[in-house]
Amino acid sequence: MKAFGDIWRSNLFQKWLMAITGLFLVLFLLGHLSGNLLVFLGQAHINEYAHGLRTMGHGAVLWGARIGLLTFFILHVASAITLSRRNRQARPQKYAKVEARSSTLASRTMLYSGLLLISYVLYHLAHFTWGAVHAQHYAQATFILPSGELVPDVYTMVVKSFSEPLITVLYLLSMVMVGLHLNHAIASAFQTLGVTNRRIVPMVRTIGPALSILIALGFSAVPLAIILGLVKI
Ligand code: HEM
Repeated sequence: MKAFGDIWRSNLFQKWLMAITGLFLVLFLLGHLSGNLLVFLGQAHINEYAHGLRTMGHGAVLWGARIGLLTFFILHVASAITLSRRNRQARPQKYAKVEARSSTLASRTMLYSGLLLISYVLYHLAHFTWGAVHAQHYAQATFILPSGELVPDVYTMVVKSFSEPLITVLYLLSMVMVGLHLNHAIASAFQTLGVTNRRIVPMVRTIGPALSILIALGFSAVPLAIILGLVKI
């Protein structure tokens, strides 16, 4: 038991935990993004998809995924805070110049961009999942699927929300934050997991920025298209 505790507390284990949970969260983002892009195929597609997610396995699949996602999220944040605290304790004096040269702005601000991301996720859940903010847009409308089922109209909720410039700006700024956080995070996760092969390292260096740009631009496409009037009710 003590051996397990020692491993759990070790820096190496905490780094692995942060990397692996982070990569799973990236997979979630890719899945979420592909679902969101259904907005461009029209109202029926996105509403059918959202309804399918909610009712799959009588709701058990969605709840299973939510519990898994929350667990990964908590482990990711906890390991990040633990490592950052240990780093600071181990190095009380700031080597400002050395750090600035060897690291990027994103890498030096990972903890802060991460904490901002948590605020974004809470706001986002309050907006689209709980209807606690911008309640005037929250799934008031219903939609009849081609199968005849009456379901919540996610499409109308999203389009009405992003027709408000303030909401769109808040989301777009948050997506810049998502991009900056992932840009450093993906490359650093692979490094932690020991991807050091000379042929793979350049690929990883490309995959990190490419994926972060794809995710940030992909998520931004929906609010941008709506505010520009390209997607409407
Ligand atoms: C412009 C970008 C985004 C849009 C338009 C969007 C849209 C949505 C919508 C409509 C829902 C609710 C679906 C339903 O009615 O069941 C949702 C849920 C969710 N979104 Fe997003 N999303 C965006 C970006 C993000 C990002 C970047 C993250 C994470 C960092 C995220 C995390 C979540 C989570 C955790 C849920 C709750 C899933 C659940 O438990 O039901 N979203 N999103």
